[in-house]
Amino acid sequence: MHPAITAPEFERLRHLTHSHFGLDLRPGKETLVEARLRKRLAQLGCRRFGDYLDRVARDSSGGELSLMIDALTTNFTGFLREPAHFEFLGQTILPALKKRPEIRIWCAGCATGEEPYSVLFSLYERAPGKQVRILATDISTKALGAAAQGVYSEEKMASLPAPWRAKYFQRGGGQWAGQFRVKQDYRWAVEFRRLNLMEPFHQLPRFPLIFCRNVMIYFDRATQANLVARFADRLEPGGYLLIGHSEGLFNSQGALEYDRPATYRKRGTLA
Ligand SMILES: C[S@@+](CC[C@H](N)C(=O)[O-])C[C@H]1O[C@@H](n2cnc3c(N)ncnc32)[C@H](O)[C@@H]1O
Repeated sequence: MHPAITAPEFERLRHLTHSHFGLDLRPGKETLVEARLRKRLAQLGCRRFGDYLDRVARDSSGGELSLMIDALTTNFTGFLREPAHFEFLGQTILPALKKRPEIRIWCAGCATGEEPYSVLFSLYERAPGKQVRILATDISTKALGAAAQGVYSEEKMASLPAPWRAKYFQRGGGQWAGQFRVKQDYRWAVEFRRLNLMEPFHQLPRFPLIFCRNVMIYFDRATQANLVARFADRLEPGGYLLIGHSEGLFNSQGALEYDRPATYRKRGTLA
């Protein structure tokens, strides 16, 4: 028999995930929460959600809280996901930044790395020899570990053009048969770092382009508006914020203006 979450337990969990992660767990999501956390409760031998929440609260390292957020959110991603943005890199970003010797981009909520690697390969394909540095951040240490390893299954590779496999990946042998690993030089062009978007990031430099795709879907409007304002602050004048195509900023765009689907721009000109 699986434990059901009671209304006070759900409220406690809702408060915890909202204050730490900006997560918007509305009433009605109880079944989802139960399904996503069931395994962890079993691993810890917790019979009730209340016991589990006590465990999370007692763990001052924050590790249990981190595992909880991992279970509640999804790291779903893929190479060249939402291809219009990769066309946009070639058609708009590269011409705007052609005078720069180096391009720096931030992927916020990079999950297991397919997105930042796709950005890197797309830029190298369109501007061979260009220096590219990508900062790729996520809250999930598990996802970041996989991203830094850069090992992907054949199935994951299917969305990449075939010539890119040989160019950017090593094919695994032995116990790694059927797996592909991003070559070291390319892995090193991406810096993976843990960053909770609910915490300050004004210490980061300004970027001409920030990807934050399919992350803000978890946040309520107020959290989203606050985050977008902080992204706008980290954009160079004329810089772009890219979000997922199924997301909308509605009235949260503040200093940014709509440019094209899933693409918002800060006033000014990139150079
Ligand atoms: C669905 S994935 C999106 C991956 C990629 N951007 C894409 O569009 O394919 C959402 C990612 O957001 C991360 N995330 C959720 N809340 C976060 C937070 N408060 N701070 C940083 N990352 C967060 C999750 O860990 C997850 O890896």
